[in-house]
Amino acid sequence: MRILFVGDVFGSAGRRIVREHLGYIVHGRSVDLLIVNAENAAGGFGLTPPIADELFDLGAHVLTTGNHIWDKKEIIDYLKSVPADSHDRPRRVIRPANYAPGSPGFGVYQGTLPSGQEYAVVDLQGRVFMANNEDPFRTADALLKEITAKIIVVDFHAEATSEKCALGWYLDGRVTAVIGTHTHIPTADDRVLPGGTAYQTDVGMSGPYDSIIGVQKELVLERFLTSMPNKFEAARGDPRMAALLIEADPATGHALSTERLLLGE
Ligand SMILES: [Fe+2]
Ligand SMILES: [Fe+2]
Repeated sequence: MRILFVGDVFGSAGRRIVREHLGYIVHGRSVDLLIVNAENAAGGFGLTPPIADELFDLGAHVLTTGNHIWDKKEIIDYLKSVPADSHDRPRRVIRPANYAPGSPGFGVYQGTLPSGQEYAVVDLQGRVFMANNEDPFRTADALLKEITAKIIVVDFHAEATSEKCALGWYLDGRVTAVIGTHTHIPTADDRVLPGGTAYQTDVGMSGPYDSIIGVQKELVLERFLTSMPNKFEAARGDPRMAALLIEADPATGHALSTERLLLGE
């Protein structure tokens, strides 16, 4: 089976480039499971229910997020609107599983494809150079005891390459894929680790590359040069869709191959 993981969709430019490419890739490459990181989909900061709908309408099975999940307040009631056993759209938007106990929403979604194939998607956040959250390694151990699906995709939303690489090796052979998000810079290290886990340190941003990780260059430079607070605005130029296509064996849950995608207009 084929899994397509689309990296952080950033603002309207990101949504447009993803809309442009997803249709023919999903059908042309026979993608069975489509996972999209949507933490920056609303103007670069957060996610709103209508924008989640827009991404689900493109065929996404699960939307993962990260540290920007709370930027748009309306997402809180949306995540709280469903019980754990729901399969409705709000239940298929997940936030990092290692947030404080009692945080709105869920960190894992387990579902079934039309073929009958079960899958699970896990969202975890790193701790190096990130806000306080619980240990992603031990959280993963605990979650894997509960998950029954063979196909398990982990979005590891983290800043440090070392921490991401470490989780990839830690989970090698136990999950189908560990895919890094958050830095918005695609890395050239996608591969299948010896135990059968597909790994990429960062899948990259699906958004405007004429920018500093999605934000208008001038605004980021102003902040670096003056240290004064200013309002960040999403850039629009040079949109590209960054994604990882994974071929996996549905019987074992092991990955067989990876292919990196970075597609412009
Ligand atoms: Fe992001
Ligand atoms: Fe992030």
